[in-house]
Amino acid sequence: MHRVVQTWNPERYATHARFVSDLGQALLDLLAPRPGERVLDIGCGDGALTERLVGAGCRVVAIDSSAAQVRAARARGIDARVADARDLHFDREFDAVFSNAVLHWVADPDAALAGMRRALAPGGRLVAELGGHGCVAAVREALAAVLGRRGIDAESCNPWYFPTVAEYRARLAAHGFAVDSIRLFPRATRLPSDLTDWLQTFAQPFLAPVPETERPAVCEEVRRRLEPWLRGGDGVWVADYVRLRVAARSLGRAARDTEAPRRRTGPPGRAAAPGEEVQ
Ligand SMILES: C[S@@+](CC[C@H](N)C(=O)[O-])C[C@H]1O[C@@H](n2cnc3c(N)ncnc32)[C@H](O)[C@@H]1O
Repeated sequence: MHRVVQTWNPERYATHARFVSDLGQALLDLLAPRPGERVLDIGCGDGALTERLVGAGCRVVAIDSSAAQVRAARARGIDARVADARDLHFDREFDAVFSNAVLHWVADPDAALAGMRRALAPGGRLVAELGGHGCVAAVREALAAVLGRRGIDAESCNPWYFPTVAEYRARLAAHGFAVDSIRLFPRATRLPSDLTDWLQTFAQPFLAPVPETERPAVCEEVRRRLEPWLRGGDGVWVADYVRLRVAARSLGRAARDTEAPRRRTGPPGRAAAPGEEVQ
């Protein structure tokens, strides 16, 4: 097993990943924040999207595991704190928990769901979007081929958790959430810069086992493989994102409150097709 290495640099994020927070507006609309609501933003990044929650009149606390991102969010005047989504210590303090493009980075989804529900007042809302089943499949396939030629098993460096509708729905239910909507959908995403920049911003754990001097060659090989598929005639790279978007409500205590923390649930049942909506 290779060490998972992913760092977040706010300047790099602003240049190569601003689309993440820009595309978060639809999730904010789903949350429909009301003035005065207490909202916890999980994985706020540099706070660009969090700022809109503040602008909607919410009382926002934001957490992120990256100290650099938290500094950038604080510079926007946000009450941002360094914390890990797997180890939340809030107790029924929030009317809503919001999270955009974070939960697929969290290796222990049960720990995150347990902490988010504990953070919510009974009836509080969880509105979240994460990478879903099949996300960036073409990119992962190319990485696997290129790393495989160097004797590296890409799956052993894969930091992402991309669940199906059925799997995540089961987890939500097990953690005491009533699911209002859950939807898996493809979202072809135009990148603001080269695929190599995307790899260096988001795919660091795959590059970590490669000696530093060889990483540019690896990125170039991945880029060459994907160019016919992911680069349009206008030269713009379009990544094959798939998103899982969830709106749920806390029912109060879950059966598993009495269980040891961080216990994983079993595998999902029925797989969901892209675009499927489950009420
Ligand atoms: C793609 S960014 C999304 C940031 C922001 N939500 C947005 O929409 O722009 C992912 C963020 O998740 C944070 N993150 C990753 N794993 C985390 C964890 N276990 N706990 C808290 N934050 C985490 C990263 O530090 C990073 O800032």
